[in-house]
Amino acid sequence: MTRIKIISSAALLLAALVCLPSLALAGDVEKGKALYMQNCSSCHGDTGAGDGPTGAALPVKPRDFGDGSFKFDTDGDGKSGTDADLVNVIKNGAMKYGGSPLMAPLPHLSDENVADIIAFLRSLKK
Ligand code: HEC
Repeated sequence: MTRIKIISSAALLLAALVCLPSLALAGDVEKGKALYMQNCSSCHGDTGAGDGPTGAALPVKPRDFGDGSFKFDTDGDGKSGTDADLVNVIKNGAMKYGGSPLMAPLPHLSDENVADIIAFLRSLKK
């Protein structure tokens, strides 16, 4: 069972690597969760509701990741919240796209870190 899981996630990863950037990222939800708890939950909250201790006090509240709805269309493809949009907001910050400077750029995260975090964000959708 675990073996099948490993093989299928390896296959998925390979498929994603081959097709990047057009296809969905194949991040690791568990690793993403750990990174999220370190870097994001103070504002976005443990469940992504935007109710972290810092987030609750912000003038512009982050959206509830549980809704799965997103604001920024960073690449102008007419859709907000695509993987590319999330990567851009996380790496470059929201201010670059007309959003709050409080969503600061997080350039220290590797592409793999960002893919893992996005996998976790997607898993929060109720
Ligand atoms: C200092 C507080 C803070 C931290 C830390 C923070 N964010 Fe944010 N984030 C915000 C705020 C505020 C917004 C809303 C910006 C706006 O609407 O102008 C936001 C918006 C976003 C968005 C855009 C959602 C949309 O609607 O398009 C994403 C994605 C996001 N944050 C992910 C992250 C991730 C991932 C981390 C950690 C790696 C993180 N943020 C860390 C405050 C923060």
